[in-house]
Amino acid sequence: MAIKRIGVVGSGIMGAGVAEVAAASGFEVVLRSRSQEGADSMLAGLDASLARQVRKGRVDDDTATEVRARVSAVTTIDELAPCDLVLESIVEDLTAKQELFRELDRVCAPSAILATNTSTLPVVEMAMVTDRPDRVCGIHFFNPAPAMSLVELVPSITTSDTTLGDARAFVEACGKTPVTVKDQAGFVVNALLFPYLNNAVRLFDAGVASRDDIDAAMKGGCNFPMGPLELLDLVGLDTSLAILDALYAEFHDPNFAPAPLLRRMVAARRLGRKTGAGFYDYGR
Ligand SMILES: NC(=O)c1ccc[n+]([C@@H]2O[C@H](COP(=O)([O-])OP(=O)(O)OC[C@H]3O[C@@H](n4cnc5c(N)ncnc54)[C@H](O)[C@@H]3O)[C@@H](O)[C@H]2O)c1
Repeated sequence: MAIKRIGVVGSGIMGAGVAEVAAASGFEVVLRSRSQEGADSMLAGLDASLARQVRKGRVDDDTATEVRARVSAVTTIDELAPCDLVLESIVEDLTAKQELFRELDRVCAPSAILATNTSTLPVVEMAMVTDRPDRVCGIHFFNPAPAMSLVELVPSITTSDTTLGDARAFVEACGKTPVTVKDQAGFVVNALLFPYLNNAVRLFDAGVASRDDIDAAMKGGCNFPMGPLELLDLVGLDTSLAILDALYAEFHDPNFAPAPLLRRMVAARRLGRKTGAGFYDYGR
């Protein structure tokens, strides 16, 4: 199947990043946000990112103009009808995602692939609310999508080989490296990463070391580019909590039980970079 037009639902961190990647790779992109404000802010973010790349000499003016022209932002779901593949990147909440899949199934052509960027939730439970469970697949990009090379491809037990092949072709056309992972919570990366991040919050809460020393220890001692608390702020503490809740619900492993401080910070809307404060203050 020739995939030409991509729909992206959700104009948060990941939706905006994936829209940029797909447009830069030559796909027409229709980004759906629920509000005009969300759509405008996503387009403003794309303009700023392209201007930054032109300033740094990574792309020329003409290319940036072409990439920008390939992206349109809409607020109604019906405008996703002409898309060959729709990737949802909304809040990490199964009920919200299932509601969206029902709507996408109604709006999109039967041949269209409906994909989820979920970090942990069961792909099969999204597939089964549609009339095309064979055309539903997980396509898990990493944050920030333009910079990270990996994409986890997550076929559920209902995904057809054709769909998986089409999804792989899309990912490769985006210049990313796919790995194929079974539909179980956390896939590979988050199943391994989140116990580590969660335990960093526990160490911090127990006063074993300061925030800065925990991050410095893991950067200096393991050569990680970011410390765990910085990384949690980048991912978003609400998304991180949802990931840990889903992992714990699936495996009941105590390492996945969210650190109480994480839940309290989410309750206080200290969600990390996206709200201007998390473990660090971003001065907004
Ligand atoms: N943040 C990361 O590092 C990361 C990495 C890979 C995948 N993901 C996954 O991508 C998805 C989005 O994460 P994000 O970090 O972009 O979150 P975000 O909080 O930045 O954005 C979420 C978006 O969903 C919208 N939204 C919220 N509730 C909705 C609903 N009921 N219907 C439609 N839209 C709704 C919000 O308005 C917002 O635009 C999640 O499934 C997450 O697990 C996140």
